[in-house]
Amino acid sequence: MDQIIVQGNGPLKGEIPIAGAKNACLTLMPATLLTDQPLTLTNAPRLSDIRTMTALLQSLGAEVAPLQDGQVLALSSHDLTSHRAEYDIVRKMRASILVLGPMLARDGRAEVSLPGGCAIGARPVDLHLKALEAMGAELDLRDGYVHAKAPSSGLRGAVVEFPLVSVGATENALMAATLAKGTTVLRNAAREPEIVDLAQCLRRMGAQIEGEGESTITIQGVETLHGATHPVVTDRIELGTYMLAPAMCGGEVECLGGRISLLSAFCEKLDEAGIDVEETPRGLKVSRRNGRVRAVDVTTQPYPGFPTDLQAQFMALMCMAEGTSRLEETIFENRFMHAPELTRMGAQIEVHGGHATVTGVEKLRGAPVMATDLRASVSLILAGMAAEGQTTVSRVYHLDRGYEHVVRKLRGVGAHIERVKEEEQV
Ligand code: UD1
Repeated sequence: MDQIIVQGNGPLKGEIPIAGAKNACLTLMPATLLTDQPLTLTNAPRLSDIRTMTALLQSLGAEVAPLQDGQVLALSSHDLTSHRAEYDIVRKMRASILVLGPMLARDGRAEVSLPGGCAIGARPVDLHLKALEAMGAELDLRDGYVHAKAPSSGLRGAVVEFPLVSVGATENALMAATLAKGTTVLRNAAREPEIVDLAQCLRRMGAQIEGEGESTITIQGVETLHGATHPVVTDRIELGTYMLAPAMCGGEVECLGGRISLLSAFCEKLDEAGIDVEETPRGLKVSRRNGRVRAVDVTTQPYPGFPTDLQAQFMALMCMAEGTSRLEETIFENRFMHAPELTRMGAQIEVHGGHATVTGVEKLRGAPVMATDLRASVSLILAGMAAEGQTTVSRVYHLDRGYEHVVRKLRGVGAHIERVKEEEQV
């Protein structure tokens, strides 16, 4: 297993290119199942989650060809040879559930393994299932699988009122509704930029959608969808993560492809903390004003609020802030697993249920730490860059799910970071 070794750093300087969004790509890829014509995604990130979705789609009979070193994905689902998403693939990645809506809409049947729990909480899929049921699907949960069937005349448009905002359930329902008969209205829908990106891609494929980015989305079902080429939107979580690097180490870094509109709540918090963010024609230029950053309070919320996927990284910044900050996690119930690891580096954090109180210290100290999930792992790297001495992060396979070339990108702005095989360490 690989490890990442980070030495405490001085100020950073340079630019970091931001990739296409993992979470957008993971919902754009299953959209191929809605049509027998080719779908081409450009600006795709090169990540292990994308390879898992590739394997899943291939297991259903789709052809997926990564081109240009993986940045272009050529997908084609001319014939589906299977309608069963097996546990062995689904258990690796919860986003696998996103094949359910498209398969059901196109062929009237699907069997998808239930994703099960995951490290950051229980994460059920009841909202996905209720939305599809409202559109006429018959669902049977047995042997750990959802066995889904559409009426013989196909799914029908429906009014779906989500009791809580779910990104995945909105995406599944949106894709299914494009081929349903009649009008579907999704209320209390998620508004994330990845939903907007999906709607834009589906529209390029011939879908009739209005209201994406708002909490009510209206979809007029069409007979068939056709092929399209679509560029994946910038990864706002990768963007926010790298914006925190100069915030923590000092210096100035330009994140290429970044826009404030992707992350306005996050940028407001950076401003309160004393970080300058300037929009340039190429992206976002980030630098720290003089002195230590100030402690600020943060509550995670669905978009346009502060993203849960940046909470761990922001906590790393708050560990070094002047004063005490209170971080509240409202989306996932078990998302402070990075706190004990940051504490090993000298941070002062108290966690009580969904709240963490962080009292900033002047300096963090390098230590051996363990990554527990994707965003936690990168928060430890950021902390290591700002700490005194050496930090060794193990279990970095989590990182490969969501950050491409993390070592190369951070070295490019002057970070002292390398990836080694564990045995080379001893
Ligand atoms: C997506 C993102 C993930 C991000 C999350 C919240 C992808 C691939 N992943 O995950 O990185 O952290 O949005 O921004 O896009 N819930 C239910 N029932 C359901 C579905 C969700 O109770 O059927 C709950 C979840 O447990 C959670 C909340 O709703 O507490 C929000 O989850 P959701 O927005 O669905 O997250 P994902 O789509 O899984």
